Amino acid sequence: MQDIAYDHLEKIRDLLLSKGHTPGSLRYHVATFGCQMNARDSEKLRGMLEYVGFSESPDEDCDIVIYNTCTVRENANQKVYGRLGELKGKKKKNPFMKVVICGCMMEEKAEEERIKSSYPFVDIVFGTMNLSEFPRLLLKNLTDKEKQYEVTEIDRKNDDLILSLCKEDPILPTKRKYPFKSGVNITYGCNNFCSYCIVPFVRGPERSRRKDDILDEIRTLSKDGVIEIMLLGQNVNSYRDPGRDDITFPRLLQMVEKIDGIERIRFMTSHPKDLSDELISVIKSSKKICRHIHLPLQSGSTKVLSQMNRHYTKESYLSLVDRIRNQIPDISLTTDIMVGFPGESEEDFLETCDVVERAGFDSAFTFLYSRRDGTPAAGRADQIDEETMHERFERLLSLIHEKSGEVSKRFLGQTYPVLVEEENTHDPSLMTGRLPQNAIVHFKGDASLIGRIIPVTITESRDFYFFGESASS
Ligand code: 5AD
Ligand code: SF4
Repeated sequence: MQDIAYDHLEKIRDLLLSKGHTPGSLRYHVATFGCQMNARDSEKLRGMLEYVGFSESPDEDCDIVIYNTCTVRENANQKVYGRLGELKGKKKKNPFMKVVICGCMMEEKAEEERIKSSYPFVDIVFGTMNLSEFPRLLLKNLTDKEKQYEVTEIDRKNDDLILSLCKEDPILPTKRKYPFKSGVNITYGCNNFCSYCIVPFVRGPERSRRKDDILDEIRTLSKDGVIEIMLLGQNVNSYRDPGRDDITFPRLLQMVEKIDGIERIRFMTSHPKDLSDELISVIKSSKKICRHIHLPLQSGSTKVLSQMNRHYTKESYLSLVDRIRNQIPDISLTTDIMVGFPGESEEDFLETCDVVERAGFDSAFTFLYSRRDGTPAAGRADQIDEETMHERFERLLSLIHEKSGEVSKRFLGQTYPVLVEEENTHDPSLMTGRLPQNAIVHFKGDASLIGRIIPVTITESRDFYFFGESASS
């Protein structure tokens, strides 16, 4: 599959050259909606387009626009349709222009049909399983001038499909957003079927990549200047090497730790039901694994958690938090919380607030429950009305602000190794970097520091970010 993808890319490059498009003259724009997995897929799309000679455009006034979509909540879909409408006019002005849509939204039959019927100017559509087929689809569109639709239907009963998905792991060219850090997929898909969530339907069955492929990729990244990696999966804790059942996530982390040049290891996301004591002790004894765990709570009510199919209770979540903090006192915990799950009562909501009071989260992503067709929760009659949902959301938000303001005080006056990521967008005399705990810090410095890990002393705490001072500035 890898050779075929490169074969097609080379054919595209030759074709464009033969039509007089010099390298860099054609421009692309990839817009990413959604999570870190999509961000990583977009780096591969960028890599493929640069490989054939396109150069990046900051906006959609260009020759090929790709929307890498998300569908986890309804508003993610709305954002895509909002921007898609504007492309029609741009395409009239630039007849060469190609419009491509891929990602999770395209795995929903209804959305694919909507694109086909209402947005006929879209040239190429492909699904989450078809990333490596993009070169073939683009080549065919360029030569035949016909629209290309390729969405592999996710069939969990088809063992051959699942097996081929596990085996197929082509290394595609990538263009990273940051030269010094990168995401690395370790699992794809999800088998958890939380009752509100569409991800298992659009990203398919969970499959782990072979450890050797993961380690090879990280070694290559390290040689290319990457010092921080983020291991990615919907539920990294259930990682198992497909050939070796004993290679679990903690074992994988220990192997990654040994790779020269990698200085920081992060991972995302951890399902609380699978976070083992072994993982806690591996983090504790590691010199490279960052002191940050993103541990989605979703709800603090044991009743709601059970209806969400989350496989933990309020008490077991809190006791996990205690175990983590006892072993790794400098850990930062962040979380995802949803309000308005069907049937959520005021008492249930107060249980969620109680966990926020007690867990000491550094920050939290908060979401209004969004009804996703095909999920078990969408069929429930006891949906929560908008007004109640919004009112709870606001209360939760102010509680999270208050609590995170309290816990972030522990950083003040402390010095941390900070990976300098970029110039501050508002004030170029400031640099922006990240603590091992994942929090963002702004401090005086210059662009020569970008990509380096330097000590920064935290001087001021704001909403979910900090100001600091560096001895190097
Ligand atoms: N409605 C609202 N939030 C959702 N999430 C997943 N599905 C839904 C939904 N239907 C949230 C969860 C998850 C995060 C990535 O998105 O909190 O952890
Ligand atoms: Fe969705 Fe649950 Fe899987 Fe996360 S673990 S992707 S919330 S089904």
